[in-house]
Amino acid sequence: MPPSLRAPRGTRDLLPDERAALARLERIARDLAARYGYREIETPLFEQAAVFERGIGAVTDVVEKELFRVAPSRGEERETWALRPEATAGVCRAYVEHGMQTWPQPVRLSLTGPMFRYDRPQAGRYREFWQWDVEAIGDPGPAVDAELVELGARFYRDAGLGDVELLLNSIGDPACRPAYLGELVAYYRSSIDLLPEQERRRLETNPLRLLDSKDPAMAEVNERAPQITDHLCPACAAHFAGVRAHLDAMGVAYRLEPGLVRGLDYYARTAFEFYRRGAEGQQQALGGGGRYDGLLELLGGKPTPGIGFALGLDRVVLALAAAGAGAPVEAPPVAVIVGADPADTAGRLRVATGLRDAGLPVRADLSVRKLGRQLEAAVRDGAQFAVILGDELAAGDVQLRDLDGGSQKAVALADLATLLHRKVRG
Ligand code: HAM
Repeated sequence: MPPSLRAPRGTRDLLPDERAALARLERIARDLAARYGYREIETPLFEQAAVFERGIGAVTDVVEKELFRVAPSRGEERETWALRPEATAGVCRAYVEHGMQTWPQPVRLSLTGPMFRYDRPQAGRYREFWQWDVEAIGDPGPAVDAELVELGARFYRDAGLGDVELLLNSIGDPACRPAYLGELVAYYRSSIDLLPEQERRRLETNPLRLLDSKDPAMAEVNERAPQITDHLCPACAAHFAGVRAHLDAMGVAYRLEPGLVRGLDYYARTAFEFYRRGAEGQQQALGGGGRYDGLLELLGGKPTPGIGFALGLDRVVLALAAAGAGAPVEAPPVAVIVGADPADTAGRLRVATGLRDAGLPVRADLSVRKLGRQLEAAVRDGAQFAVILGDELAAGDVQLRDLDGGSQKAVALADLATLLHRKVRG
């Protein structure tokens, strides 16, 4: 095997410490989802590419540049597939496909899992990354918008990440956005000399995105740009006021950010992102979401409103590590089964199996080495007890040694599980 086989660039192996940190976040997400009435769903890791092209928008970075297209190497299928770059389009495809509009509305769905985007990897930006995604489909808001945003904010608190700021905006809807876009484009054209080359191109394809450009050259131009919130139609303005009033009623702090426009095309009205205070670079969003009232129709469904968010779990793991939180501590085995006869690994496994049948987390020492070395390893494991198999085994007894206190006594093998259970509880 060539020595240079490695995980693809932009992906990484989650070694046990990092996997445990991610698993902890997944547990918090699942518990919260259940508490707020969101039920879990799984969608395939790949979909027809059209789900993303139609749903997310063909001229977004995510679809234009970052989609991992999957070509089947054989078979009859003529479909083009792509790895999912996000979950919303797939979840909404599933909503339409399974007729969820006949379920009680809104349908509240949650999932955690890997997403794939082919982008230039850098700190906090991976080609495979994990999201917690939450969607509430079938409620026009504004109350549900605020409830969902509060759920996102709570996640960071429960995860132990302080200092997370919520940025909030409304980006209008198809009734009011076109007139605003006209004004925005006219404004940028009047300042075209100040725009970097890449932003000039985007002015033609997706002018809204210029507003949240992280190019320093754009900062001054954007400061004077017309703001969408000054151009909302009465319905969108009332909706936005409603979202804010509900957030205020819950005591959720937020900062209005008129430049926040999101990178996916399906959004209308409410848009929001979470950042660590003072860390608002492009790769630093901890999570984001918004309302997507036109999306279900784009995917072949009836007009149905929806709102959701996705939180980037890798970035939360990184932020927690940067804040000095160690990997979650996993409980050591309660006992390690060791033996006086180095060769009797079968005897040690037999006892361990019985204790595992009784639900106890134990390890059997499977090495062929002296008892002293086995005991040293048991101490290194952090186990509370060593179960020592010796000559008494013939009479149905083992020695139980308390590795913390050093005491040792003979115990009937038949009573061992009950005794250990009692000690664990005590
Ligand atoms: P998004 O803003 O594209 O939204 O992604 C949400 C979060 O996923 C980001 O804030 C970031 O934390 C994380 N993320 C995105 N790309 C990467 C990457 N390459 N590496 C590491 N983390 C990343 C969505 O995905 C929408 N589907 C959210 C949504 C749900 N809107 C409505 N419902």
